[in-house]
Amino acid sequence: MSVVATRHGATLLLTMENGAVNALSVANGHVRSILEAFEAGLQDATCSVIVIAGAGSFFCCGADITEFARRNIAVDLRDLVNRIEASPKPVIMAIHGAALGGGLELALAGHYRVAHRAARLGLPEVSLGLVPGAGGTQRLPRLIGAGPALEIMLSGKPIQAARAKTLGLVDKVVDGDVVAAALDFGGDAALPARRTGELPPPNDLANAVTAARGSLRTTLGNAPQTIVDCVENITSDLCAGLAYEAGVFAALLLSEASGALRHAFLGERQAARIPGLPRDLPLRPIEAVGVIGGGTMGTGIAIALLNAGLTVTMVELREDALARAQNIIGKSLARDVEKRRISADEADARLARFTGATAYEALGPVDLVIEAVFEEMAVKTAVLQAVETVVRPDAILASNTSTLDLDRIADAVADPSRVVGLHFFSPANIMRLLEVVRGAKTAPDVLATAMALGKRLGKVAVVSGVCDGFIGNRMFEEYLRQVWFLLEEGALPQQIDTALERWGFAMGPCRTMDLVGQDIGWAIRQRRATEQPDRPYSGVIDRICALGRFGQKTGKGIYLYADGRLPSPDPEIEALILDYSAEIGLTRRAISDEEIVERCLLALINEGLRIVGEGIAYRPVDVDMVFLHGYGFARERGGPLFQADRIGAPELARRIAALAAGRNGWAWAPAPLIATMADKDAAFSTLNA
Ligand code: NAI
Repeated sequence: MSVVATRHGATLLLTMENGAVNALSVANGHVRSILEAFEAGLQDATCSVIVIAGAGSFFCCGADITEFARRNIAVDLRDLVNRIEASPKPVIMAIHGAALGGGLELALAGHYRVAHRAARLGLPEVSLGLVPGAGGTQRLPRLIGAGPALEIMLSGKPIQAARAKTLGLVDKVVDGDVVAAALDFGGDAALPARRTGELPPPNDLANAVTAARGSLRTTLGNAPQTIVDCVENITSDLCAGLAYEAGVFAALLLSEASGALRHAFLGERQAARIPGLPRDLPLRPIEAVGVIGGGTMGTGIAIALLNAGLTVTMVELREDALARAQNIIGKSLARDVEKRRISADEADARLARFTGATAYEALGPVDLVIEAVFEEMAVKTAVLQAVETVVRPDAILASNTSTLDLDRIADAVADPSRVVGLHFFSPANIMRLLEVVRGAKTAPDVLATAMALGKRLGKVAVVSGVCDGFIGNRMFEEYLRQVWFLLEEGALPQQIDTALERWGFAMGPCRTMDLVGQDIGWAIRQRRATEQPDRPYSGVIDRICALGRFGQKTGKGIYLYADGRLPSPDPEIEALILDYSAEIGLTRRAISDEEIVERCLLALINEGLRIVGEGIAYRPVDVDMVFLHGYGFARERGGPLFQADRIGAPELARRIAALAAGRNGWAWAPAPLIATMADKDAAFSTLNA
């Protein structure tokens, strides 16, 4: 039974028990059980009050999001809440932990709400590209006013119980046992049934709707404006409002944006699971971390560790570099205090957990070492060989390398099973992506510990096997290859950037590389020219680099940066691009925005599917998480391989074959997985299971 019924005098207590978050699952019969237990209470003449509570840590965190992919379970939830609200006997909701989404809609159907002080209440549907679909848009504004209700629904952020009390969302806040308080609240006395849905439309409706329309978020698909539409549609006829909400909910559920946002939400959790490893595998405790190298990455990594409560010992050979790193860390913490993210005491505590040193001996007590020294094999192996002689035998050795072969680094030390890659992205304290690189000999508990560390740092950690560029940079290279070809064929930088930004990239590729530093890509292309002579790049970008135009840091790159950060197109570069095309005998043609998006997206998809096929990524969704959190791919677009499923394997095969028949068709050898899935007539997402 997922609902436990107990009697307390004339009061019936129904305790919902369904998994860790008391999700309102339809598939396993939980929602039906609640309804049946509730109706039994209504039938029972000796019961006069019904209290609904949640077992475990939460009242209820809402619908089971995985079920939305199969059916519109809001239909079932709507029926449940409508029947509860209609009850002739008073219904009291006992809320602890959290009442979120469908969980709060369930609570709104009760006639009274008692909450624990630590409880959070919210309607986060907007972050999944949805509107609350079980009466939330109609009941919450009636109960607390349209203004506050819109704020809660549009932000998607939960509020604390005390604020909920002020707003009238809950009737009582208690510090102790919330169930006892709810039983007490009802007593056996005749509380009147009080139905939220029978309240009149809120007085502030028109003003609140106008104000909300003035500052709507443009992300999250159509969900924000649709939430406002639902509120605007509140009239004295509750049923009409509920029908409107049900209609728009069903439409949003089928939208690309909601599918993508749900994929992202679930994917962030899925990426943390390592196939084949027991979830309860004992991890190595990590509290003290050594960071070697106090450059850009080492400093950012140290800040991320300190902010997550860890102790950091930084070893940097040069005193001046160490002082500089320490200075940057101090400034970062001071900025957090200034912006009121943390208190001054907290900043002091974080700084007190940092020690700088210039000799490896300082690393004796650490649980984990992360090296972020120069990107040279000989330097990295020498560092780790020196380190392994001073740390404990069970301490983990991690490399932040972005391009070197992790297996070679691991083989340089006595015990390669303790070596793992921790590929942070710059700035390491800000970027959410962490590629955890699994070497051929990395021990399972080392890999699992690295993933757990990623979570503790607030990162989205994704496992990658060893290959050049790992998941993200390897795909990005094929994307950039198309960008530079597009330039020589007829597109200009601003057209490429605008087309891709309109489609959903946070920043176009020309601007991105100007920001990262064009010299980095130039070095990679030079290396590739000897490694892969049969896979040439357009030379147009090297011409720009040869002018010393490396982007923002030199004030000029593909664009001009007169005031430091804002790019403006440069006629000199336009002339250079046109000259280059003429020089290689190419007649420039008009290139559509659609072609730009098509080629850049398909390049990502094709390489991403190759990476999944080779087992470098465990699942397609892992590739998507890398692009969402490390490369500015719009969350509303779900990721390159979410897009691959929108196209479908057979159509993808056709489009890639068409590109393969065109100019530089060699770059379009299709990933073998495309034919495999087309033959099976299966979606790539089936590989996520
Ligand atoms: P950096 O040049 O800014 O910093 C390297 C630091 O290591 C310098 O301060 C240097 O004095 C110190 N160092 C060199 N040898 C040392 C040794 N034997 N012992 C102690 N300290 C030593 O380089 P950056 O950009 O921080 O990169 C470091 C590593 O991170 C490289 O492997 C790089 O590929 C990787 N990486 C860099 C990213 C970036 O965006 N810059 C992104 C992801 C990874």
